[in-house]
Amino acid sequence: MSHVPVLFNETIDLLKASRDKIIVDGTLGRGGHTKGFLQKGAKVIAFDQDLEAINEAVDNFQLEKTLCKELKIYQNEDLTVVHANFTEMTRVLNILGLKMVDGVFLDLGVSSPQFDNPKRGFSYRFDAKLDMRMDQTQTLSAWDIINSFDQKDIFRIIKEYGEEQYARNIAREIVKARPINTTFELIEVIRKAMPLKSKQDQHPAKRTFQALRIAVNDELNALKKGLIESTEVLNPGGRIGVIAFHSLEDRIVKEFFREQANPCTCPKNLPCICHKNPTLKIITKRPVTPSGEELEANRRSHSSKLRVAEKITIEEGGK
Ligand SMILES: C[S@@+](CC[C@H](N)C(=O)[O-])C[C@H]1O[C@@H](n2cnc3c(N)ncnc32)[C@H](O)[C@@H]1O
Repeated sequence: MSHVPVLFNETIDLLKASRDKIIVDGTLGRGGHTKGFLQKGAKVIAFDQDLEAINEAVDNFQLEKTLCKELKIYQNEDLTVVHANFTEMTRVLNILGLKMVDGVFLDLGVSSPQFDNPKRGFSYRFDAKLDMRMDQTQTLSAWDIINSFDQKDIFRIIKEYGEEQYARNIAREIVKARPINTTFELIEVIRKAMPLKSKQDQHPAKRTFQALRIAVNDELNALKKGLIESTEVLNPGGRIGVIAFHSLEDRIVKEFFREQANPCTCPKNLPCICHKNPTLKIITKRPVTPSGEELEANRRSHSSKLRVAEKITIEEGGK
């Protein structure tokens, strides 16, 4: 199963990968973007929390296991692959003997091989055990949320992370129907919870499945922490690029970049007394989106948005 990297050329250009640079790819997946950074001569430290992604990379990039008690690390001369969450960026870089890097890239969400593997339970297209864990060593799965969380917590998840207008009905029907073991059982419950007139152009379970996946993998909190860590490990002049696939993610990236670029909280008409220095400057005033050609060639690029910012140098007022 393969994954077509999204916004590939735009990412490689905007991250300014080149010889002598070290780039963190926080979301290795099937290594499409990583390969692009390597082709430009950069060294890459790649993270993924999914062991399948790590194992594939070991074969594809011919990596050797490095002895390390704390982490699974595989390396060749130019590429280091680590089984870790990108929220652990500083800790992992310390273990690798690195403090700062020249670029960080995050391509959020799941890869096609995860989504298209029926066993992983990410997709409403296949009948599978409720799972949705990106990290197979994690204990919390979609099954636990569906079968053991309170109705009000299930409602909150579906409402907040799925922006589903029928979240209340769906949460009520889920709790009534428990135990629910498989994706198809869950879809049946969701269908029943929706009014007939609501049959829209999208699959009725789409929003609920998105919500569950975000909750299982704590994706929005991971993104917030990942953005802070990325900014801290970036050298002045280094760039961070993030590809988001839905508005909840994109809003977090946009607001984070804005706050880092304009941290002053003083009233506009008064002199600044907070003296907070900007840490980033925004490179993409508007997000970069796929060309018509890419949209046609890769359905999954639909709704992707790339935002890039650059760490402020001392001359520009940075620390
Ligand atoms: C959209 S795919 C990346 C695809 C990749 N850019 C490529 O070209 O093949 C996202 C990958 O990031 C991983 N991932 C998502 N969130 C993560 C996190 N917080 N920490 C580490 N890996 C994460 C997923 O397991 C998945 O393999």
